[in-house]
Amino acid sequence: MNRRLALAVFAAAALSACVRQPELSDPVARGERDFRGLGCVKCHQIGSEGHAWGPDLTLVGFRKSPQWLDMWLKNPHAWNQKTVMPNFHLKDETRADLVAYLSAQKGQAWATAPWRTEAAKALAPIERGQMIFNDAGCVACHGQNGYGGYPNNNVAGGLIPSLTHVADSYSDHELHEKIKLGANPIAVDASKPAPMIRMPKWGEELKSDEIDALVAYLMSLEPKSSSKSSASDDGF
Ligand code: HEC
Ligand code: HEC
Repeated sequence: MNRRLALAVFAAAALSACVRQPELSDPVARGERDFRGLGCVKCHQIGSEGHAWGPDLTLVGFRKSPQWLDMWLKNPHAWNQKTVMPNFHLKDETRADLVAYLSAQKGQAWATAPWRTEAAKALAPIERGQMIFNDAGCVACHGQNGYGGYPNNNVAGGLIPSLTHVADSYSDHELHEKIKLGANPIAVDASKPAPMIRMPKWGEELKSDEIDALVAYLMSLEPKSSSKSSASDDGF
């Protein structure tokens, strides 16, 4: 190909790229393009695309509000000083598009949610529960293995609760109901903005047997101190 022809081909391609721009009048489509272009996919997975080094974002629009997403993307370190997610110093328009794209992620990018495959259904409940904990994104608020440590505003202790001791305070049934119905944290200071992170109503996303698997997993995190002491009581 001679230079002139190559240039013409290049110009035509560039022109068609320009002409194609109006297709992206949809903020969600622009957000999707930027999510790939900015390299968010190096740390996050949506559907089967990307790397799940940070939280899987396939359900992020269910668990996090647009207001919180906007604030997080503005400066992750302002919310969580210890985060390894970089500040991308995004332009306001780019951030708005990413928020639109992320808010639209309600699980539809999965043909079948990972915990609904036949193989996953055949797992022991504790293992399946752990899978749901990670893939549905409990981990994004309650930390690895429910260890906690993630911030919330205007709540006692400033943190989302850890889940390693739920076996001490909940029966299986109570825990199931808690996960199903979610909760709005109580503000410690009524004059300050309400907590931005709430416990989602998982009954809208997860089936009853899936919540049971989560209960089995959470109950396995820390043995019941009551059953420990009653075991020793019985052991005389
Ligand atoms: C170097 C890896 C890395 C990159 C790159 C990265 N993130 Fe993150 N991101 C994380 C980690 C890790 C967390 C979890 C919070 C934490 O552990 O501090 C997170 C958390 C998030 C959350 C909240 C997750 C949830 O489930 O509630 C969103 C939303 C998010 N990132 C979006 C993005 C977007 C959009 C980009 C690209 C502009 C991006 N991230 C790039 C590592 C990364
Ligand atoms: C968007 C963040 C977020 C996600 C995702 C999330 N939670 Fe929560 N969770 C919270 C908050 C905030 C609370 C505290 C609610 C309150 O103060 O009443 C909470 C409370 C709980 C509690 C009660 C803890 C206690 O100490 O009494 C359980 C159990 C729980 N979550 C389980 C789960 C499970 C299982 C999942 C995944 C299916 C999940 N959470 C996903 C934010 C979240």
